[in-house]
Amino acid sequence: MTKTASPALYFAGIGSRAAEWHRVFAEVAPELRLVDHLPPEPERAGMRYALAWKPKPGELQQLPNLQAIFGLGAGVDGILADPTLPAGVPLVRMVDPGLTQGMVEYCLWQVLYHHRRFWETEDAQSRRHWAEQYYPAPWDRSVGIMGLGEIGQAVAAHLTTFKFKLRGWSRSAKKVDGVDCFAGPESLPAFLSACDIVLCLLPLTTETRGLLNADFFAHLPMGAAIINAGRGAQVNEADLLAAMKSGRIGSATLDVFQTEPLPADHPFWQQERLFVTPHNASFTDAKAAATAIRQQILDHAAGKPLQHVVDRRRGY
Ligand code: GLV
Repeated sequence: MTKTASPALYFAGIGSRAAEWHRVFAEVAPELRLVDHLPPEPERAGMRYALAWKPKPGELQQLPNLQAIFGLGAGVDGILADPTLPAGVPLVRMVDPGLTQGMVEYCLWQVLYHHRRFWETEDAQSRRHWAEQYYPAPWDRSVGIMGLGEIGQAVAAHLTTFKFKLRGWSRSAKKVDGVDCFAGPESLPAFLSACDIVLCLLPLTTETRGLLNADFFAHLPMGAAIINAGRGAQVNEADLLAAMKSGRIGSATLDVFQTEPLPADHPFWQQERLFVTPHNASFTDAKAAATAIRQQILDHAAGKPLQHVVDRRRGY
């Protein structure tokens, strides 16, 4: 592909790492023309591919010959939020081993953190207190993974090696080694009833919006822990605070929030045993992602099918 003959890659709301994406694409895909401002109308026809995280609503609709939109994250809700998103254009989600690995690290860290109640040790140290602490063996502890896609299955494989009892819940039936799998809304109460620690890795869809609410928490054993590395809009925040105050939820870690950054006056900052991480559970490795997207563009231009295309009706 020569620079003049090659299609342009249009950057649509690519977030705070825009300069990095620019630099890395220029390095790994020098044959692509990178465009980061909506060009005058006659030039828009040349915009064949777009890279997006949270595009401005209406922006992508103005590119009449768009062939594919590449999302910069595993979740594509920020792109699907545009009601004018061109209907027939394939949307590709990010599958990057670096992103998956980061999620695995985060989930192991947090599952072990809640399993071992490590905040008690930190608190004891802050008081120079030698506190003895006991905890159940992992095989007496049930961890429930919600979302059994690429990331959920990678996390399950690692938790298996720690010998936790694993349950999994997904929209459609899945079989995962070592995981007691549940599927669909009707099986949610049964799934939750034995989860000591719930790990939410679900995509944001109409079905998962607000799913973690008072009713959901009421199905969990008393004192269960919640870890949310899915999307903030899946949690009813007032219900979570109430469930923590009542002791139904014993501890929680949240990486994602209804409003990001989390406002300084948000009660989550002060809630005991609620741990906030700033939507940094993991991130897409720019070089690996740019290399993979370049390859997809080359393959697509040569008539090969795109990989990891989102089913827009499902939302992931
Ligand atoms: C991050 O939130 C992602 O969707 O990759």
